[in-house]
Amino acid sequence: MEATNFLQEILKISLVALMVYISYYYYKYFTRENPLPGPFPLPFIGNIHQIFKNRSFDISKFQAKYGDLCEFYTGSQRFILLNNDDLIQKIMKPTVNGPFQNRVNDDNEGLKEIGLLNAGLLFNNNYTDWQYHRKFLTKVMMSAPFIKQSVIVVQDNFLEMEKYWEKFGENTVFEFNRWITRYFFDTIFITTTNRPAYALANYYNKLTPNEKSTLPESILKESSKFVESVDALIYSVLYFFLVPRIVRKFPGFNRHTQYLKDRVSWLRNGIDNIIKLKREEISKTPIDQKLNSDMLTMFLTDLHDKPMSDKDVQENFIGILSAGIDTSANSVCFIVDFLENNPKAKQRMIEEIERVLGKDPNSSFTLEDLSKLEYVEATIIEASRLRSNVPINFKKNSVPEVIGGYKWPKDTYFMMSIDKIQNHESYWKNPETFNPDRFMDNPEIKNKVYMFGGGLRKCPGRNLAMVELKATLAMLYRKYDIELLGPLKEHVGISRKCDELKVKLRKRKNF
Ligand code: HEM
Repeated sequence: MEATNFLQEILKISLVALMVYISYYYYKYFTRENPLPGPFPLPFIGNIHQIFKNRSFDISKFQAKYGDLCEFYTGSQRFILLNNDDLIQKIMKPTVNGPFQNRVNDDNEGLKEIGLLNAGLLFNNNYTDWQYHRKFLTKVMMSAPFIKQSVIVVQDNFLEMEKYWEKFGENTVFEFNRWITRYFFDTIFITTTNRPAYALANYYNKLTPNEKSTLPESILKESSKFVESVDALIYSVLYFFLVPRIVRKFPGFNRHTQYLKDRVSWLRNGIDNIIKLKREEISKTPIDQKLNSDMLTMFLTDLHDKPMSDKDVQENFIGILSAGIDTSANSVCFIVDFLENNPKAKQRMIEEIERVLGKDPNSSFTLEDLSKLEYVEATIIEASRLRSNVPINFKKNSVPEVIGGYKWPKDTYFMMSIDKIQNHESYWKNPETFNPDRFMDNPEIKNKVYMFGGGLRKCPGRNLAMVELKATLAMLYRKYDIELLGPLKEHVGISRKCDELKVKLRKRKNF
């Protein structure tokens, strides 16, 4: 009897607490500053149920219903959604220590939970620390030996991928997105560490289980775990940032949350080991011998303001893996899809590649050659305009600011719907049409494509990414005819991910 009473009391208290929470939630909602149109939020989840569907994060539908300036909620977190280029000008201005420097608030417990808050670059709110990391990375990325070495790495990796392709024959159906993700995994890994990641070799091995691999089982297992963990890391960024703690801990979600945390933690350990091995390698290199031009060696040997600790190097490494692999791989998939559906643009691009690099598809090329591929660059940018690689970009203000005619208190979240902005009829002529020529006729308008974001935090890997994309497209299109076998399938997370692109690859007849 007493137990029943106790339970009833608990129930009553819970009910009262729930009602207080709901009343407070809606009191805050109905008294919010500058109410904007937007979907009606629910307590605990906000509009999460309208945004996340089939692993995809979709905010683009809100513009049609609520206009260029609107709002939505995740839990009790309000986001101001900006769907028009004029609305983002102030935010994208590169102002030193400006008001839109940070992406997230200091109290984002989700990002803190996986150690991404205030470390490295991506979510570092400490301006001095961010600047220290940023200068380091920019210096490495801009160094001529590093970029030149990257051009060689891309070509070598492409040749390795081709070696596997050739073993399958021309009638094989290739899951192009899977190949190209592993190819960029290896490429970024080698440019970062000068160590192989064996992602391509491992993938080939999985597709041909009857063929004995030349690599030991332990290496292949480790490679698989690296690929899987980087995938989990990329997914975790948006998951831990947006999904409220109460939902993450909810039965059903909690196992998924733990899985992601375990993978990120495994990745950190793996990176630590690589850093240790690299330190050993550097210490054993004779003083008169030139060190390698990989990013890790540069991080560990360039003293800059102060030497970088292993923890800081780890954070930068995490940033590069989460920001550099998927973005590049997905870009290539979307570009291929556009080109195969737009034969004129494809023809013009191939003509340029052959004119600049020569007709021999096996000849190597240099950084200087790549810089002459203007139409290839226009193609990359146009594909990104129509299917943006990072469809959402978010920033918050550190002091009160006026956006869209409203004064916003500090720490307001602004989410830019890059898709909508880059396809807005008010700026783009025939926005739905894939037309790289628009940038050849008017190169200025490239600045209105936010492929690499904007402001002080614009992508530091953009030069490397452009070089790698151009080199990959050149290697692919100077040799192969591609047949698409069905539509490209995608979902949107922190980046736009190609889930399926099936193709047949045939060497072009004239070679
Ligand atoms: C096609 C390939 C790529 C695309 C589309 C891309 C896009 C972006 C975008 C949109 C941002 C956000 C910028 C902003 O806040 O406005 C970003 C940031 C960043 N990207 Fe990239 N990226 C690519 C490749 C790379 C590569 C290859 C690396 C490194 C090797 C890299 C490293 C980073 C880092 C570290 C940041 C955070 C910068 C900061 O907060 O200061 N990215 N990227």
